[in-house]
Amino acid sequence: MAKQLNAALAGQVDKSRLPRHVAIIMDGNGRWATRRGLPRTAGHKAGAEAFRRIATYCKNLGISYLTVYAFSTENWKRSETEVNAIMLLLKKYLLEAVDSMERDNIRLRFFGDMTPIPAELQALAHQTDEITAHLDQGDFQANICLNYGGRDEIVRAVRRYAEDCVAGKQNPSKINETLFSGYMDSAGIPDPELIIRPSGELRLSNFLLWQCAYSEFYATDTLWPDFDEAELDRAIAAYQQRDRRFGAVK
Ligand code: FPP
Repeated sequence: MAKQLNAALAGQVDKSRLPRHVAIIMDGNGRWATRRGLPRTAGHKAGAEAFRRIATYCKNLGISYLTVYAFSTENWKRSETEVNAIMLLLKKYLLEAVDSMERDNIRLRFFGDMTPIPAELQALAHQTDEITAHLDQGDFQANICLNYGGRDEIVRAVRRYAEDCVAGKQNPSKINETLFSGYMDSAGIPDPELIIRPSGELRLSNFLLWQCAYSEFYATDTLWPDFDEAELDRAIAAYQQRDRRFGAVK
């Protein structure tokens, strides 16, 4: 036991038992900037770089899916300057993705209600969807949650399901968890085994509420812009020490 705990502290990852899907609440960008006397937007810029770094590392490690919380349904309450800065950053990274996804074999998918997102960004997301459709299903996939809320995702799925019932394509007496999962933004993707929240906060903040049923939660005080490969190793090593019972007795 002590040996296992030491391995977790040292961040020693067992590559034969990696989580297939890691999800991250990219929190702490604002505090990172404020502590340096910089505007909050500088924190988001550094946060976007951390995303690039960690996505590359996940792909190289052999993790299949990385889902990140980039902008929540509640984040519109922030100043116009901050919202615009985040949208601009997303545009910059999507433009880069359009050029590099095919070369690097990276699939991209968006979770969230894209309708209020600036048209230019929607068009770029459409382009990345088209590139993703041509890539191999087994390639590494990053899922970006944009105007995303876990409750909103469930409500939108219920709406689509109800429409299918009205159209006679579904029968309410036949609904089950697997069928309903197919209506979620995450359709076809396994639930995250590991959810990471940097910056010391210990809440889910409306993230992946349906999918997190049996996810292992890992929190660290490190702010997202400072989250590096060694931090991810520590999170995975800690996950690998967990006793996952899924409600059963071992
Ligand atoms: C939370 O930190 C962070 C956000 C709401 C924005 C995250 C967006 C990015 C990292 C930029 C674009 C993303 C990609 C995928 C390219 P916070 O601002 O709430 O931090 P605080 O709690 O310290 O104020």
